Order: sequence, then C-alpha cells, then structure tokens
Amino acid sequence: SCEIYRLDPEKPDRRAVERAAETIKRGGLVAFPTETVYGLGADALNPRAAARIFEVKGRPPDNPLIVHVSSLRMARLVAAEIPERALKLVEKLWPGPLTVVLPKSPEVPSVVTAGLGTVAVRMPAHRVALEMIEAAGRPVAAPSANPSGRPSPTSGEHVVRDLDCRVDVILDAGETFFGVESTIVDLTRTPPVLLRPGPIPVEVLEKLLGERVVVPPEARGLRASERPLAPGMKYRHYAPETPLILIDGDPRAVERVIEAAVREAVKARGMRFALAGPDELVDTVASMLLRRGAKPAWIFRLGPLYDTTVAARRLFKTLRRIDEVGAVDVAIILPFPERGIGLAVMNRLRKAASRRVEA
Ligand code: TXA
Ligand code: MG
Repeated sequence: SCEIYRLDPEKPDRRAVERAAETIKRGGLVAFPTETVYGLGADALNPRAAARIFEVKGRPPDNPLIVHVSSLRMARLVAAEIPERALKLVEKLWPGPLTVVLPKSPEVPSVVTAGLGTVAVRMPAHRVALEMIEAAGRPVAAPSANPSGRPSPTSGEHVVRDLDCRVDVILDAGETFFGVESTIVDLTRTPPVLLRPGPIPVEVLEKLLGERVVVPPEARGLRASERPLAPGMKYRHYAPETPLILIDGDPRAVERVIEAAVREAVKARGMRFALAGPDELVDTVASMLLRRGAKPAWIFRLGPLYDTTVAARRLFKTLRRIDEVGAVDVAIILPFPERGIGLAVMNRLRKAASRRVEA
C-alpha cells in the first residue's frame, strides 16, 4: 500500500511534503514531480534505500541515478568539487532542467553512481521537489519514475498507474512543465560532452561556458555504441508496446519515403496504423495517404513543426496513448527539426523506435 497526495504545484500542502521528507529520511521511496518528468526518489546517502529504486524500476544496476539537491551547499556534499566551469552553468540555470556530471565525493554510495567515479547532480525547478529535498535535509537520488525502458511519466496519473503502489508515497501535482528529462552535460571531460539533450539547448550551454560542447551521435540517439559514454545510452528507452517506425531526417523530405514505409509497415490486410508527428506534416501526409487508399486508424498531432516545446510536452503522453487506444498494430512517427528542445524530442523518438527509415 502507499499514500497518495494530490497537491497544488504552486502551493503544496505542507503536511504532505513533510510526510514525503520523513519517508525519504527513514529510507523509504517517494515518487515526486519535477519540472521535467516525475522522479522515483530515495535518500542518496543511504545505499539500501537507493538499491530499492533499482528493484522497483527493474533498472539494470550499471545505470547510475541522478542526485537531486535543493542548494549549492548540498551539491558540494555529493560532488568532490564544483569547478569554475560548473559554476558558470549552475549559477544561471539552477534550479532548472540541467544535470551536470562531476567528480563524485566519497559520501555518495557506489550503488547510486553504479560504481563510477562521477556523479550526476541537478537542482529541480519545482516547488514540491525543492521543498521535499529541503525538508529531508539530504540529497535525493531519483531516476524517472517509469518502469525501466518505458515512456517517462509526465503526470501523477502516469505514476500511479506505473508504480502500482510499490513505493511509500506518491506526490501528484498534475502535469509536468517540460515533458522531457533534463539536459545532461559531462563536465569531467574537456571539452564538455552532451550526454543527453533536454530543455536547455546546447547553444545556451556553449554561450555560458564560453567553449564548445561536443554532441556525440549517441546524444542525438543515433548509435548505441559498444562502449557508451553514459551507461544509460546502451539501452532501448521510452518505448511503448506498439512497434514504432520513425521516419527520420529532413521533415520536408518525408513525402518521398512515406508511402513505401506505410506499405512495408502494414504487411497484412487489416493491419491498422497510427500516424503521429508535427501538425503540419501529419496533415499533409494523412491526406496524401488517404488519396492512395491508406487510412490511418489514429492520428496524433504532437504540435507545430517549428515550436518543438509543444511536442516535448506531449511526447510521452502520446507514446502511452498509442498503446491505450487499442487495435493499433504499428505507429508511424514523422520527424521534427533538431533545433532547441527538438534535439531532445528526436533523441527520445530514435531511442523509442523499433525501426528507422531515412527520409
Ligand atoms: O529530468 C530528469 O533528469 C529526471 C528527473 C526525475 O529529474 N531524471 C531522469 O533520470 O531522467 P534517469 O535515471 O531516467 O536518467 C538519468 C540518466 C541516465 O541516462 C544515466 O545513465 C545518466 O543520467 N547518468 C547518471 N549518472 C551518471 C554519471 N555519473 N555519468 C554519466 N551519466 C550518468
Ligand atoms: Mg529515465
């Protein structure tokens, strides 16, 4: 059994937050909202509590957790040092959707960092998260609150469904703001390396750092290498049950390949496909397919082509919907431009896709 509290994100009930903080302090698990996605949190300094996170999530033990803090002082406790370079970023971007990878301090148990000498640290910009960490008085280790491999939860409802009360407390504050996970940058390398794109664009990091940030193909979701830069990179992620075929590349080139892709996807008579992607593109492609006698069973408009913040917000909810609407055998996803948060959207789609077709 678990306790579920519904909270106003602007004015969270003090008692519920305290209850969550106490639960963290005594080694329990709390699902909580952040501005990106919901997290599944435990005391980052308690190895047994942190180990429970891996158990509940079904997470491979070699995939480290992000440590959430509510102050710079707390960040100094978990990182061996906060170099000048890191300060340039966190002074401007914390609290916010940025995670920095730094040398780890001995305080952090190795189960949290999966045995690495580094630690990923972030200060979330959500009142509930900040107040809970502050009240607990210790850093909180938390991955996204989904079962390993599945789309991340962007609402309290998702969390309640996903976790099925296998945690002690769930704080439900409705929908999250950004809808995709934080940007992760590795500051232990020179030049810094983008490990995961998120709401903070690379261009912003480069401007604040005054140096180039390397964007490896893995950060675009393009190659699951043998020796991944971040342990999490080698796993398939964010995937619904329904197979996804991603039409990848320049959105303007999609029409050239879409018909063949649909024909290949819909192998048998009676197979039903869903179509999802940028509004404008989905509309033109759907009417083109309709003229050729191929009708999508479902259409999901993710948002405008050139304002990818909307698609980011709707992404994981839509991936879940594709499974829920029923009787969809395969989903065909159309691409977004990789600018700004669009890079994060494409990274998640490539990792979720069972197949990619180059446009
Ligand atoms: O927005 C977010 O970051 C959310 C919310 C809950 O804060 N959290 C999140 O955690 O997305 P998770 O566990 O789903 O993703 C953490 C990623 C993984 O890919 C992991 O491999 C990487 O961070 N990571 C953690 N520690 C690392 C380290 N020391 N070095 C490199 N990568 C690390
Ligand atoms: Mg995750």
